[in-house]
Amino acid sequence: PAELARRCRALIRDIPDFPKPGIVFRDITPLLGSGPVFGEVVDALAAICRRAGWRPDAVVCPEARGFLFGAPLAYRLGVGLVPVRKPDKLPHETRRIEYQLEYGSDAVEIHADALTPGRSVVLVDDLIATGGTLGACATLLTEHGVEVLGALCLVELDGLGGRGRLAPVPLHSIVHYPS
Ligand code: PRP
Ligand code: MG
Repeated sequence: PAELARRCRALIRDIPDFPKPGIVFRDITPLLGSGPVFGEVVDALAAICRRAGWRPDAVVCPEARGFLFGAPLAYRLGVGLVPVRKPDKLPHETRRIEYQLEYGSDAVEIHADALTPGRSVVLVDDLIATGGTLGACATLLTEHGVEVLGALCLVELDGLGGRGRLAPVPLHSIVHYPS
């Protein structure tokens, strides 16, 4: 795992002052572009589920970058995928949750009939920063009686409080940065 983290780091590019001054963007596109490492990351996420004893009925992932890991992970685990989307993208009846950003708020939606109460899921996204996105997903699911076994991320920005915001849902991340 330490070896995989090292290989991932080598393929995550720092972009200073993107999308605004003072922010260092962790660009994962070189990693996505590497067949072997991308594949190993998906295998590692599946292995984390196995070791944790999680037997999810589905993988839930937020638009857009969560889809990049959610789809191959669901395939690997042999379960379905439930997308969480930005408002007004899903065509059928939805449930929506608003969450706070540093400035202002955002919202995400899930199809109301995508998961029945009593189902269990794993959440996956590319990166956790403040935990706003995954925290909103977890709340949306648990309020509906869906059990969130855990959350998986490729990248965790340790200093931004995401893990705490997600608690008590356990989080596993492959690569850590201070911020
Ligand atoms: C990014 C990233 C995570 C989220 C992490 O998504 O892909 O989903 O931010 O930040 P948080 O922990 O503070 O919520 P973004 O909303 O930029 O959109 P995208 O995935 O559609 O590119
Ligand atoms: Mg995202």
